[in-house]
Amino acid sequence: MTQTTSDIKRGLEGVVVDTTSISKVMPDINSLTYHGYPVQDLADLCSFEEVAYLIWNGDLPTKAQLETFIKAERSKRGISNCLLNVIKTFPKKAHPMDTIRTGVSFLGMEDPTSVDPGNHIETDDREKAMQLLAKIPTLIAADFRCRKGLDPIAPKPELSIAENFFHMCFGEVPHAQVVKAFDVSLILYAEHGFNASTFTTRVVSSTLSDFYSAVTAGIGSLKGPLHGGANEQVMHMLKEIDDPAKAKDWMLTALKEKRKIMGFGHRVYKSGDSRVPTMKKYGLKVAEVKGDKKWFAISDELQAVMLKEKNIHPNLDFPAGPAYYLMGFDIDLFTPIFVMSRITGWSAHILEQIKNNRLIRPLSQYIGSKERKVVPISNRG
Ligand code: COA
Repeated sequence: MTQTTSDIKRGLEGVVVDTTSISKVMPDINSLTYHGYPVQDLADLCSFEEVAYLIWNGDLPTKAQLETFIKAERSKRGISNCLLNVIKTFPKKAHPMDTIRTGVSFLGMEDPTSVDPGNHIETDDREKAMQLLAKIPTLIAADFRCRKGLDPIAPKPELSIAENFFHMCFGEVPHAQVVKAFDVSLILYAEHGFNASTFTTRVVSSTLSDFYSAVTAGIGSLKGPLHGGANEQVMHMLKEIDDPAKAKDWMLTALKEKRKIMGFGHRVYKSGDSRVPTMKKYGLKVAEVKGDKKWFAISDELQAVMLKEKNIHPNLDFPAGPAYYLMGFDIDLFTPIFVMSRITGWSAHILEQIKNNRLIRPLSQYIGSKERKVVPISNRG
């Protein structure tokens, strides 16, 4: 069948490629649910661990189920000395998304059950998901400290994922409001339908390649500034503006120059990202604890101008960027934190893809040279 250019859905916009039961994005009512639960309610009422359980199992855990889940996760946080030594040799200026991509790939080589692509066993894949949920924060924190010339801090099994991450990065657990805001960010970033990185993990899994290869590819996809990398770019932008009084003019100039403003716009949400108000609410609590409201004041100015001039709304990266900055994280750690969270969604999608697999292999319309004869090199002059 010949396709016309108008049949082509560039960027796969509006194309439904498969079914999923993990999350539902409802742009018309600005809503997002994980297995039917509104993400805002999950953020207010649950821990990231409960949400991870939900995403992998389809329902919120009972107390006993949560206890077992937490025990399993906490028992797997340690990484090998071999990997720690590799982390110590990483170039100090390497972007943490590159180091974590390499670290996850290394974990795949260390896993003896990962050598047999094409032979996915669901219980094995679930174990790999848990290993990555537990080990990715350790990997990120170890790299964070090594690049500063500091010794890595071992994980503490009595702490939650959020608390333990602060402990492994800074050697202490901050104010409860700060931990809650971080936990909320992990919940909000956990899952979001067939976004670019999740779709990447499904494409790789559809070839029956192994779990770690799919996640490694997902990390590569998330790194891009049009996707997860936007949370870092948002903070660079806020720092460049630095003063709420300068925000309006900065934005007007940027729009005049037709610059893409990071943290605004979304392929699916056109009238607001359902996760933004929740992240902003908890981000403001961090600003209160830290006594620094400047970044959210600049954000408010930018948001108002963008809405008035272009009717484009902010996405989750917009409030997450300043929240992470106020929590004390280096800007290049923001997207790795997204990985810590999105490993839950990616894993669920890999399991779902494998359960009902069909190779993902779209078509393209050829627009290159007409067929022509090969002239041997001796006759080509
Ligand atoms: N800043 C300025 N203009 C923007 C914009 C932004 N952040 N996002 C969208 N637009 C404008 C585009 O310039 C385009 O205008 P035009 O029709 O006059 O050319 C229109 O809105 C549609 O944008 P488009 O880039 O085609 O939408 P998309 O669905 O392909 O892209 C994003 C979605 C997310 C890639 C895009 O909004 C973007 O680049 N945002 C910034 C990066 C970001 O925050 N990413 C995180 C996403 S969660």
